[in-house]
Amino acid sequence: MYYPEELVEEIRQKNDIVDIISGYVSLKRKGGNYFGLCPFHNEKTGSFSVSQNKQMYYCFGCGAGGNVITFIMNYENYTFGEALRLLADRAGVELPEIEDSKENREKETKRQKLLEINKEAAKYFYYQLRMPQGSIGLQYFQKRQLTEDTMKQFGLGFSNKTSNDLVQYLRSKGFSDELIRDSGVAVFHEKYGLNDKFWNRVMFPIQDSNHRVIGFGGRVLGEGEPKYLNSPETQIFDKSRNLYGLNFARTSRKNNIILCEGYMDVIAMHQAGFTQAVASLGTAFTSGQANLLRRYAQNVILSYDSDGAGVKAALRAIGILKEAGLSGKVLNLEPYKDPDEFIKNLGPEEFQKRLDQAENCFLFEIRMLEKNYDLSDPDSKTRFLTEIAKKLCGFSEEVERENYIEAVAQKYYIGRDSLRKLVVGQAAREGMTKEYVRPKAPKGQKQQEKGDQVQRLLLTWLVEVPQLYHKIKVYISPQDFTNSLYRQVAEMLFEDIEKGNVNPAAIISRFEEEEEQRDIARLFHTKLDFLDEESEDGNGMEEKAEREKAFHDILVKVKKNAYEADVRASGTDLAAMQRMVDGKVALAQLEKTHISID
Ligand code: UTP
Ligand code: MN
Repeated sequence: MYYPEELVEEIRQKNDIVDIISGYVSLKRKGGNYFGLCPFHNEKTGSFSVSQNKQMYYCFGCGAGGNVITFIMNYENYTFGEALRLLADRAGVELPEIEDSKENREKETKRQKLLEINKEAAKYFYYQLRMPQGSIGLQYFQKRQLTEDTMKQFGLGFSNKTSNDLVQYLRSKGFSDELIRDSGVAVFHEKYGLNDKFWNRVMFPIQDSNHRVIGFGGRVLGEGEPKYLNSPETQIFDKSRNLYGLNFARTSRKNNIILCEGYMDVIAMHQAGFTQAVASLGTAFTSGQANLLRRYAQNVILSYDSDGAGVKAALRAIGILKEAGLSGKVLNLEPYKDPDEFIKNLGPEEFQKRLDQAENCFLFEIRMLEKNYDLSDPDSKTRFLTEIAKKLCGFSEEVERENYIEAVAQKYYIGRDSLRKLVVGQAAREGMTKEYVRPKAPKGQKQQEKGDQVQRLLLTWLVEVPQLYHKIKVYISPQDFTNSLYRQVAEMLFEDIEKGNVNPAAIISRFEEEEEQRDIARLFHTKLDFLDEESEDGNGMEEKAEREKAFHDILVKVKKNAYEADVRASGTDLAAMQRMVDGKVALAQLEKTHISID
């Protein structure tokens, strides 16, 4: 959706961020900023800050951040266009209707086009479900007791038996074959050309957390293989970083998230009022997904199938949750296979009871472990208890470890002291496990992180003290930012400074992706503590010298990092070679130049 940048800016400026956010969150003024409880994750102390000066918000707890438009998008689950409409109405600004013209389409980036195709495909499937040829699909959903409202909310649809009706529809909308193929909804065959990927299936559009369709799952009607066919990973569909249902679950405001395996499970739970349910996307749960969940809830209740494969998947997921610092519980749905069946048979109240009784994941792990041993055999029981003792060593907090020792001792009729002895013995043998240590990043990655860090610092510094830019611009250009996001920010920021009009919140709305907006909000919201602390003990001169040195170091590091990247690229890239030559001179000059930060 394309609105002129000036219009977006006008609407943003006419909606003061403190006014708007105050309508949703109770804010208290503290120094130059406002603070409150973050609406995007569960917290008891306010780490959510809003800056009136910069017209931005940022949460120090979960990293959510952006400007007034992003806030509405995230809070209301709105698309950019919808958020803009709300804010425009509020400020009395007229928003023109944007038509889908060819020129507009040409301006879109490839990502946007792929999103557009997936959205069109979702609309098409949705429409087919309600046509005569889709009635078998509709009957299927009705048989599974989905209401009209639920089907609508999840945008459920149907793909016809015809082999390329969707492809033809998309072509008629002006999309090229190459784009249609790359969107994942069609498959190219040497012999048959471009065909629809999904035939004769009920369709589940998969949405990202901003309600944008990024792919599909399609289920056969009744029996058949494969039961579900999913879109392949594409430029817009990363299965390890999205979760089915998260676009609704993120604002459910329950204090937990239910993680399950199936699309139908998520839908059944939402229909029954458990709007905090999400599922992975036909692949195993990943740490990327755990990090995503961490933004919305601290407690995750696992609801995996009770068969062997389900238990194995649950055990893996428990490990991943732990690594992400989330606490997990496991739902027992016996004698039913999954949440969908359970709710159909026993109803929402019973389901809520099971949620309340969800088992602590450590005790679940132990219970599963138990199945491998014969507890009536003394040898086997000893081995079982030794295994438990090993696991207990994993708790580095003594209180926590003691509580678990107590619980296990009670459950398996073994003296607390004997179990404790066993734990101590294990610990002596293998060492008490320290807190989870992330595996070391490979060297290249570490270098990149360091490069990113100094680039971020430099930008933060320049937002806080824009006049410094004029002193360094002979040495530093946007090209020196090797991180492409930071390079774009640098371009915009430098241009703004040249115009004498620094406006961080406006820079944010020029980025489309939520991740990018968060990253930029963090960058602009970081406070360089020393900038507003004036020394009282007369060490002003010394402190100033230190700051100058710090600033100089950052500059040199950014420049050096860019130079090194150019050296690496210079073998194959002429422009990089030229930059390398210039960079070397500039770096040498910069190293011996004093830059005053007054
Ligand atoms: P299940 O086989 O448990 O199916 O797969 P389900 O979700 O309960 O579906 P119904 O109730 O039989 O209709 C769980 C999930 O695993 C993925 C899908 O994401 C599915 O929702 N899956 C399963 C596939 O991707 N492909 C398959 O062939 C099967
Ligand atoms: Mn099922």
